[in-house]
Amino acid sequence: MARKGLFITLEGVDGCGKSTQADLLVQELEAGGREIVRLRDPGGTRLSEKIRLVVLDPGNDEMCDECELLLYEAARAQLVREVILPTLERGATVVCDRFYDSTYAYQACARGLSPQMVDAANELGSCGVRPDVTIVFDLSPQEALRRATVERTDRLEGEGTGFQERVREGYLQLSAREPERVRKIDAAGSVEIVRARMLAALRDFLK
Ligand code: TMP
Repeated sequence: MARKGLFITLEGVDGCGKSTQADLLVQELEAGGREIVRLRDPGGTRLSEKIRLVVLDPGNDEMCDECELLLYEAARAQLVREVILPTLERGATVVCDRFYDSTYAYQACARGLSPQMVDAANELGSCGVRPDVTIVFDLSPQEALRRATVERTDRLEGEGTGFQERVREGYLQLSAREPERVRKIDAAGSVEIVRARMLAALRDFLK
């Protein structure tokens, strides 16, 4: 079936504020009368949420990088087939907190897996589904850490600011590679200021 809905993804280093902005974006889109399905990757289906628990559990510290990559892709494939594709086919809008750009930034740029291998894994895990537009909330990891209100506990968040610097660099590479789709905005400043920047970056999709 043809895909009719709009697929928006939100990306950034841990603590960049994208989940707060996702709430605001959903409100804005709903006020415009659209049907919105908000999701997170990894997650969003029964199986994908189970995989999320495994991949983020700090107790699984023996996990090798290839295992980590494949778990993210497995969770994503289930999310795409079970929820994202049917939603887009019926013409609703999907707002997804992270998608395959996270895998490029975290598993290729930060972990150091081969970018070509990660691109191929992303093709499989996404079942070939590409976001129409992606907002990258660009923030220094130091600033993200200053903002954190709760103690960080998951496996990836525990990797430290050097790791998050490489993640940030990965997103900058992606926005240079695909500037039309991957739109970087400055995520420093108040919630209201960042919201305005996000809506401006999405202007051509919000008409
Ligand atoms: P979240 O807390 O923003 O939902 O993301 C979960 C963590 O998983 C976050 O630290 C980023 C990481 N992650 C990857 O390393 N690779 C991926 O492909 C995805 C989707 C997330």
